[in-house]
Amino acid sequence: MGPADLIVELPSGALDAVFLEGYEGARRIMGVSIADIYDEYVAHRYDEDPFGIIRTSGRIALEQAARHVSEDPEVLDLGMGTGETLRQVRHRLQAAKLRGVDISPRMVELARLKLPEARLVCGDAVTAARRTEPRSIDLAMTHFLLNYVELDALTKGIARALKPDGLWSIVTTTAESFRHMQRLALRIVDEATLRAQMSVPRSPLHLAAELRAQRFELMEVTELEQPIELPDTEALLGFALGAGWFACDLLASLARSGLDPFAEWLEDIFPLRDVARVCICVARKI
Ligand SMILES: C[S@@+](CC[C@H](N)C(=O)[O-])C[C@H]1O[C@@H](n2cnc3c(N)ncnc32)[C@H](O)[C@@H]1O
Repeated sequence: MGPADLIVELPSGALDAVFLEGYEGARRIMGVSIADIYDEYVAHRYDEDPFGIIRTSGRIALEQAARHVSEDPEVLDLGMGTGETLRQVRHRLQAAKLRGVDISPRMVELARLKLPEARLVCGDAVTAARRTEPRSIDLAMTHFLLNYVELDALTKGIARALKPDGLWSIVTTTAESFRHMQRLALRIVDEATLRAQMSVPRSPLHLAAELRAQRFELMEVTELEQPIELPDTEALLGFALGAGWFACDLLASLARSGLDPFAEWLEDIFPLRDVARVCICVARKI
């Protein structure tokens, strides 16, 4: 798939609206939800996992969790994507009971193909955590979800759903990730617009402080640094939108409007080298 496949015609003027009215204006005009973005751009190629960052992070997270969890845990994966992490849990802990939630119907469909025995539903992660029977879960997982949900509400929901001493496996990029791409983005959008797309923790230290404040004891933390190199526009769009790394309505709106206005901006940025910084940790409810 090339950039052309990501471009859908929109009424002229839509792109201007992104910049004249700012991000909120674009959101209203485009009305693209995160579920729509994953359904349309990401689901069919998510498991390609360029640079293997998702696979490696998931493996480390499960190694951490496996050191502390029972042989037959009740597991709840919030924002489970295509179910790859739950599949790995099933492989390691055959007696585990698996539940998962994702907001994208297409991602849920793909997960169901891999995990016919699991209880997989389509819906919002925070709502699902709140509606889970209190004190019923041994291991909650939120891998690459924090950018899409409000951490405080999520934490409260998870604390309620976990059994006493229950575990929470968190995998997230931080604001320290992709610093070069953040600087490049600031050439075309303002700081407030960029920050509105990023609600990941500022750093592993900030995440640790937040967890402690919410009465979670941090048991293990690993930081993964993975250099990436993108040779051209096609690879950039494939990584940013197709692989879900910057799946947001601003980028979907830009892709739909066409990239011609950015020709000058794109001209001198390749090969684009950057570093993904991922914080992988497991915490226990206290
Ligand atoms: C980057 S993917 C991570 C998938 C999986 N956890 C993994 O590690 O591969 C983010 C997932 O979160 C889902 N998502 C985004 N917002 C959500 C929400 N509010 N509730 C549930 N799922 C959500 C997306 O549909 C997508 O499948």
